Amino acid sequence: MLQSMRIIGGQPLVGEIQISGAKNLALPAIAASILTDETVTLNNMPNLADTSFMQDIAMHFGSNIQRISNNTYEFTTKKITTTIAPYDYVRKMRASILFLGSLLSRCGHAKISMPGGCAIGARAIDLHIYAMRKLGVHIEIENGYINAKADKLIGSDIIFDHITVGGTENAILASVTARGTTRIINASKEPEVIALCKMLNSMGGKIYHDNDSNTIIIDGVDKLHSTTFKIISDRIEAGTYAIAAAITKGKITLKDCVYDDLTLFFDCLKHAGIHISKNDNSVTVEGCDVIKPHSVTTAPHPMFHTDLQAQYMALMTIADGCSHITETVFENRFMHVNELNRMGANIVVQHNTAIINGVMRLNGARVMATDLRASVALVLAGLSADGETIVNRLYHIDRGYEDIDAKLSGCGAKLERVNVEQ
Ligand code: EPZ
Repeated sequence: MLQSMRIIGGQPLVGEIQISGAKNLALPAIAASILTDETVTLNNMPNLADTSFMQDIAMHFGSNIQRISNNTYEFTTKKITTTIAPYDYVRKMRASILFLGSLLSRCGHAKISMPGGCAIGARAIDLHIYAMRKLGVHIEIENGYINAKADKLIGSDIIFDHITVGGTENAILASVTARGTTRIINASKEPEVIALCKMLNSMGGKIYHDNDSNTIIIDGVDKLHSTTFKIISDRIEAGTYAIAAAITKGKITLKDCVYDDLTLFFDCLKHAGIHISKNDNSVTVEGCDVIKPHSVTTAPHPMFHTDLQAQYMALMTIADGCSHITETVFENRFMHVNELNRMGANIVVQHNTAIINGVMRLNGARVMATDLRASVALVLAGLSADGETIVNRLYHIDRGYEDIDAKLSGCGAKLERVNVEQ
């Protein structure tokens, strides 16, 4: 039986929401934990379907995982028991490709199933493979598997022809114990990537980030040791709940939200008339009566994050005028458009730009979640709409939003989970 969320909209959300640890750091951090045979303790780990599955894969490779408290986990990988990641794992968890770099670093070989595409795009890994080959890894692709071997990883210059978060992370994980120096040029500078470098440095790594030149320099070390590391706050979760305040004309304080990780996003909300106030360890977001249209284009950090595109589009559907949203990171990340239009929105897609003509209000409807961020955008739309909205295939949301039901209903949202035949 699949779960759906039933939402009665129209209620301004008011209150506080504790922001959890960042999913998109927790996943590479779990991959990094197998780089050493000593214990790695991760604090502020979000409890999500994705992190739970990534832990299962780490255990598959030989990691012993102890849950110390609700959000603290200890990973000890004394020995890697296998370096094969079967298709069944990888097809469900694209981020398992990050074990490629860790396994090569620890063992010098790995056999990982090709991840395949997903709803939002082809999700190629050619840049990951290019980076491994530059480090001296011999790679063959056969029968849908990446067969990778290296006697010793040798530091090298890796020049990405376009920015890749996962490709940068895999290159870092593979080169942290390589012989010599690696320079990653045109590297991703997402806060989660910078935090991964900090985690590896706390394990004895020697990684430097030159922000101006977008270059990450890694001086290979012989061995990494134990660490205790706190996962940074999830800025995508924070941005999602900021939209929840804006779209319901409510007022929510986002505890542990790091304003500087969302500067441009908050600027866009301010242009739309939303009130944003930065506090010591939180940000307060307050809606306004008339939402102004404001166009955005997604791009790598520090530009407008693609993972907030669907949520922002939900807000623009009730703006007082026309706005454009251009998606430049993924080739198919507008699947929420048809579902929002079923709720009375007026959106037309031309190539990679959505043209949103604001309407007075949305109407509740039965809608279908298609991917993680599209699904939460439909919940946000349901919170604002008149009447009842049913969001199907809720498993998408549970991949990336810890305790979302409690966090939203704690601010007054009227919602419940229902089991329905899909
Ligand atoms: C990470 O995915 C995030 N996932 C994504 O978040 C996020 O949307 C994305 O970065 C962009 O910020 C995690 O961190 C676990 P990319 P990743 O490599 O690493 C193409 C979410 O909702 N590309 O930066 O897969 C690729 O197809 C998820 O939390 C190649 O062509 O993203 C895409 O079009 C969704 N070849 C673009 O680059 C490659 O070898 C960006 O991909 C690698 C990527």
